[in-house]
Order: sequence, then structure tokens, then C-alpha cells
Amino acid sequence: MDKNLALEFVRATEDAALSAARLVGKGDEKAADKAAVEAMRNRFSDISVNGTVVIGEGERDEAPMLYIGEKIGSSKGIEIDIAVDPLEGTTLTAKGDFNAMSVLAAAPKGHLLNAPDTYMDKIAVGREAKGVVDLDASVKENIQAVADKLDKKCEELTVIILERDRHKKLIEEVRACGARIRLIRDGDIAGALAPAIYDSGVDILMGIGGAPEGVIAAAALKALDGEIQGRLKPRNEQEIERAKKMGIKDIEKKLMIDDLVKGNKAVFAATGVTDGTILQGVRFTGNGAITHSLVMRAKTKTVRFIETHHVFN
Ligand code: FBP
Repeated sequence: MDKNLALEFVRATEDAALSAARLVGKGDEKAADKAAVEAMRNRFSDISVNGTVVIGEGERDEAPMLYIGEKIGSSKGIEIDIAVDPLEGTTLTAKGDFNAMSVLAAAPKGHLLNAPDTYMDKIAVGREAKGVVDLDASVKENIQAVADKLDKKCEELTVIILERDRHKKLIEEVRACGARIRLIRDGDIAGALAPAIYDSGVDILMGIGGAPEGVIAAAALKALDGEIQGRLKPRNEQEIERAKKMGIKDIEKKLMIDDLVKGNKAVFAATGVTDGTILQGVRFTGNGAITHSLVMRAKTKTVRFIETHHVFN
């Protein structure tokens, strides 16, 4: 994929973040999401690609914009698939809480798993702990393996986990190993990236979050040279059927990073909406705003942090 496209994608996450940021703390999740979706979609019309949304706001009949199957871009450039989460952390934004961001991943056609809107059990680590975790191993085995690889004691590891009732047993098991835990209210894309970001203070992501978020995180982890494994966790027959319709034959399959994102041509872009582990949120400056973004390509593994000073008309 053309490297200059990466910057075009950042413009899309910047626009979405700028729009959503106006609604930080206003208690209206839907309005914040809508603002982000509209801004991102508007920006897409300027980009020279022939894109198809494979992970988006939902089915065509439930989402007016950025629905699965929607064509985006000027349709002049290369054929790409795109996974968008214009506002990752709608509740975080509504509450003015940490870690909300606008994200997208793009890759050549057929390279992104068309993940249904269901749950996924995930484990993610950074480059230094790559190759030692296994979603099928016990919590204890994974923690010990990462500790050994990082040359740390289990007590010195930090596991990031979504704060959910479904994680009660997982949390107990991690604590029993002596490892430390960072519980997050939302936003497990940032959670999955954290172990791969230098000095984030996080070593492993564990637990169940959204399946679409798992694919987007995999695109980022390819660029960061980290690792993620996942397994779909559908909640009912309908979700199983939906996954099958989207081309997933074996629902139980342990999905390795290459199953989630094929090859090394994915691009990932994110812009902070509220302050977070990886990115600062939007700052309004009177006649403009400052945004902080991250853009990376799996091919070169270049990670760019971009601070943009926007001037409003
Ligand atoms: P939204 O931005 O769509 O609210 O998603 C936030 C999020 O925390 C994701 O990061 C995570 O994967 C998912 O929700 C977890 O789902 P649930 O809130 O149902 O446990």
C-alpha cells in the first residue's frame, strides 16, 4: 500500500477525534459516536482508494454510515479493506474518562478478518515476549512464560484487563500468580497495544473484549512487532450464524495474528480523544486544536507519533 496513504488515514482519525472531543464529558455516547463517524466518513471521500468497510458501525440496515460493505474513497486508487472504530470508547468520551481514541486499520483486499460484532478472548504481548504465550495455556503458565522471557519476577509483571464481571475468575488467577493488574473501564485496543509500547508499564493484555477490536489491534501489533491471539466468543446461535455468513468456518479456532491480519501490508492510525496510555487527547486552543496521533505500517514497522496543530476557519 502506498506509504503516503498512511497520512491520509491519520487525517481521518484526526477529524473524527476533533469532532468527538467537543462532546467529551457531555454524557451523550450516541452523539459523540455520531460526530466521529460523520467526520471520518467525510474525510474518506477525499482519499484516493477503492475501499470497502469490512469492520464498521454494523450492518447496512442498522448503521447509516460506515456500515459493513460500504464503499469509501474516491474509488480511483487501489482496492483496500478498511476496519474503522471512529470512536473507541464511547462511554469513556461521554464521561470524560481516559483512553478514548479514534482508530482505523487498512490493508489490501482480503487481508483483514471480517470479524462479526461479537466477543473475542484475547492475549497480547509486545515484541520482547513474542512467541511464549498461548491462548490455550493456563493464566499461570502464560504469566510465568512472559516473566521468564522478560527476565522479571511474576510480581513485577502488569496485566491489563477490562473491568468486567466476566473477568472475575481471570482476575483472581492473575492475583494468585502475584502479578499486578491494571483494570480498564473500556478500550481494549489501547489495552492490547500497551504491552508493545515502550515504557507503558504494561506487559500483557488478557481477557474478553470485542472481536472487531481484536482485528484492529492485530493490525497495530503487526507494525509494533508484538503478538495477539484470539478466539471468538459468540453469545448465541445468531452470532454463530452471523460469523459463518461472514466466512468464518471454524468458530472455535484459535486465531493467530496472521489469521486476524494477513501479510505485512496493514496500516494503523489512531488519534487520542481523551488522554490515554498511548496518546494525549485533543486540546482546544481558542482558534484551533492540537491532536496527538500514531500511525504505523506493518511493512516497515515505522511508528510515527504525530502532533498536529489545527487552525479553524
Ligand atoms: P465502544 O467504544 O464501542 O463502547 O467499545 C468499548 C469497548 O471497551 C472495547 O474497547 C471493548 O473491546 C468492548 O467495548 C468490550 O465490550 P463490553 O463493553 O460489552 O464488555
